[in-house]
Amino acid sequence: MNSLAVVGAQWGDEGKGKITDFFAQNADYVIRWAGGDNAGHTIKIEDKKYALSIIPSGIFNSETINVIGNGCVINLKKLITEIDYVKNNGFDCNNLIISERAHLIFPYHIEQDKQLEKFRGPKAIGTTLKGIGPCYEDKVQRMGIRICDLFDSKMFKEKLKINLELKNKIFKNVFNSREFTVDEIYDEYIIYFKKIKHLIKNVTKVINNAFLENKKVLFEGAQGALLDIDQGTYPFVTSSNTSASSIPVGLGISPKKIGNILGVFKAYNTRVGEGGFPSEFKNLKQSDKIRTIANEFGVVSGRPRRIGWFDAVAAKHSIDTMGYTHMAVTLLDILSNFETLKICIGYKINNKIIDFFPPDINLLNKCEPIFIDVPGFKEDITNVKSFLELPLNAQNYLNKLSEILNIKIAMFSVGPERKQTILMEKNIL
Ligand code: GDP
Ligand code: IMO
Ligand code: MG
Repeated sequence: MNSLAVVGAQWGDEGKGKITDFFAQNADYVIRWAGGDNAGHTIKIEDKKYALSIIPSGIFNSETINVIGNGCVINLKKLITEIDYVKNNGFDCNNLIISERAHLIFPYHIEQDKQLEKFRGPKAIGTTLKGIGPCYEDKVQRMGIRICDLFDSKMFKEKLKINLELKNKIFKNVFNSREFTVDEIYDEYIIYFKKIKHLIKNVTKVINNAFLENKKVLFEGAQGALLDIDQGTYPFVTSSNTSASSIPVGLGISPKKIGNILGVFKAYNTRVGEGGFPSEFKNLKQSDKIRTIANEFGVVSGRPRRIGWFDAVAAKHSIDTMGYTHMAVTLLDILSNFETLKICIGYKINNKIIDFFPPDINLLNKCEPIFIDVPGFKEDITNVKSFLELPLNAQNYLNKLSEILNIKIAMFSVGPERKQTILMEKNIL
């Protein structure tokens, strides 16, 4: 198979960066098709941890071409900072290209994001405040400004002027917040443009040529299935489609180019931001225990991640809507030292059992989890090299997940390092 999509199967932060980096060592292209710098992907290479937000996780392999597609939204200031970060760590960024059709995030999007969250008050989504939602909003409203607009500075200024005319009215009269001048943004973005101009390409052509040349293509997802704008826990979601189904539109390629789809699941569940989470731990000590061992804090915002048991109802919804051909289970090592592990296999609302994932957030908030108990394991598994080396109870836990979800586990991971990834299914890329 010449292409593999690595997709978040829960509420993000499943370890997609690590899994992408693992396959990237054998890939010619690593391609992001959606989201922006709301993503935070951590990769550990030897003793060093790297955090990326907008640059694809294949950047540490000089042979791999890394692509940011048209479905992404790009904050140029952040992109340039991240390029410098990668370079300062001894890697070059000559293997990075950006779609001419990608939409740009501007300071006014970030301000809008902040003001909207303030307006929502107790009903705030808990966004990353990176301007993601407002940028996608402008895209759909057909007033977005794209990378290709920067090539014609006169037109760019004109578009900026029209946008700011409206935005400033809203900032002044609705939010009573700061306004922006055309010149301050224009001058800043012209400088950014000069720095990244050489990276801008027709990504559709690049990818189609890659397939013609039989290259190995890895699609790197951001966020996760339950944050998908259509299939997630709306409105507590991000503003893009996170599924592999959105790869063709996010890159301008045929759906026939999508090969295998790897759903990445954490061995338990986490979530940053607000919104329903039926299997969340009620016992804060339990959350603290996992949060401390696994360092469960947002890469982008530093917020503590909420933690809970593996939710198989949400996972089945994720599998139904995202169509994974394979499943990966990450952070299995974190579950060492639990007497008993729990898996949520159903929900109860007002004493009535339901086995589906409710579309309505009010219903989801009312869901009481129904758990099954699975015996835990005490052994340190961080040096395990194969499934059979796992303690029997850890094997049983993975087998139970696979049986409930009716999907084969193709790989699992027992630590943040490359060598702590165990691949059981060959030839997925
Ligand atoms: P992403 O957004 O899906 O790429 O995930 P994040 O990087 O935000 O969060 C996953 C965290 O778990 C990172 O700190 C990884 O280094 C770490 N990680 C990934 N896989 C494993 C694993 O199997 N065990 C442990 N202990 N940590 C892991
Ligand atoms: P990665 O790629 C976890 C969450 C935010 C918030 C909601 C909307 O690292 O898995 P946004 O800023 O996108 O409008 O915020 O989505 N969120 C993520 N949570 N991991 C992510 O990315 C996320 N990207 C957005 O916390 O709840
Ligand atoms: Mg993350």
